[in-house]
Amino acid sequence: MKWEFIYDLKNIFSILDDLEMQTIERDYPIIWEKVHAVSCAQIGRMLAEKRGVNVDEAALACALHDIGRWVTGRQNEHAPKGEEPVRRFLTQKIGSKEAKEQIVQAVINHSKKHEIGTPLEEIVKDADILDCHWHGEDIIKPFHITRLKAALEELGRI
Ligand SMILES: [Fe+2]
Repeated sequence: MKWEFIYDLKNIFSILDDLEMQTIERDYPIIWEKVHAVSCAQIGRMLAEKRGVNVDEAALACALHDIGRWVTGRQNEHAPKGEEPVRRFLTQKIGSKEAKEQIVQAVINHSKKHEIGTPLEEIVKDADILDCHWHGEDIIKPFHITRLKAALEELGRI
């Protein structure tokens, strides 16, 4: 078992439990943030294995990618707003400066789904779209549909 990641998720759930006590309005309920963090991480692992990217970094980046929305409650500009909280989360973790910076950049850039970024960024974007799709969200924006189709094709789903 990858206990380190299980305990990262424990920390994430604890952060989300604390945030749930706040009375701010939210675009998505905390339960979705928890479900999405875990299932994105597993999809991220699968994509990382397939694409030859570090699987553990991919899982963590995917689990944390919406941290800006956890904190603000809002979808608007949530990706760049994740920078400060994700840096704070990563300070308590062991790991190279470079690997942490890759994760930070993946969080900041994950909403740029019309652009091609680093391999880790692309994993986060594709895992995000696939997870929303598989949980039943309507994917509407044309560049989201294009990305979803490409990801499903890569996985042999269409
Ligand atoms: Fe997001």
